Amino acid sequence: MTAISPSTVAAVAVPRHVAIIMDGNGRWAKRRLLPRALGHRQGAEAVRRIVQACVDLGVQYLTLYAFSSENWKRPTDEVEDLMGLLRHYLRNEVAELNRNNVRLRIIGERRGLAPDVVALVNESEGLTRNNTGLTLVLALNYGAQAEIAAAVRAIAAKVQAGVMPLEAINEQAVADHLLTVGIPDPDLIIRTSGEQRLSNFLLWQAAYAELVFVDCLWPDFDKAQLVEAIETFGRRERRFGGRG
Ligand code: IPE
Ligand code: IPE
Ligand code: MG
Repeated sequence: MTAISPSTVAAVAVPRHVAIIMDGNGRWAKRRLLPRALGHRQGAEAVRRIVQACVDLGVQYLTLYAFSSENWKRPTDEVEDLMGLLRHYLRNEVAELNRNNVRLRIIGERRGLAPDVVALVNESEGLTRNNTGLTLVLALNYGAQAEIAAAVRAIAAKVQAGVMPLEAINEQAVADHLLTVGIPDPDLIIRTSGEQRLSNFLLWQAAYAELVFVDCLWPDFDKAQLVEAIETFGRRERRFGGRG
């Protein structure tokens, strides 16, 4: 990997919130005639690399799509491999994240996860709660449509109980009931592996995100590619519906 100093992207504003759909582990392995599990293992290495790169670059929020609510459709052994890697990551990386002043936050449906994974998640969030550097958001058993449905349910319950007037339901109120409450919307969403879709990721929050699709498979994604995506982002004109 070529060493790229933060000054490399100094000419371009570093987005406050980068979100990544980490895709292509399976194809990475397939090309090498390796089992998919090895692709996922290399994918976890890429996670370590990119978290460090974001710390170096001064990104404030990094959201990583690690496991979607639809990924349960995969064969049990693959789901087990992914959960095993997650356990490994949380057990072995959180101390390092903590040393790097990284605050960890998990979004997704915890009820679907194994109790020991939930315990690890809670422990990791607790340990890093007061850190003030990068906020690393892991989307785990996450699905945006379920997230929005849950927000609607929570708001409806408040209206029904008479604690929230109907007129108070606006964009901000919805955002306040999402799992991402308190996290600014992503500025840049990157998807690796050449697929060009969101796959139920941050559908509400992505309203004005710049989307960058790269052909690189996730296990090959490195700091240079991240910098390139940030530079692409920097060349976009964000108008938010205005005239720029
Ligand atoms: C991304 O890689 C990892 C997860 C979705 C958990 P994939 O496993 O989707 O890899 P491809 O898309 O089959 O190559
Ligand atoms: C999206 O990738 C989910 C994650 C990266 C965790 P998938 O590989 O599951 O998405 P589809 O099925 O190709 O849309
Ligand atoms: Mg995929």
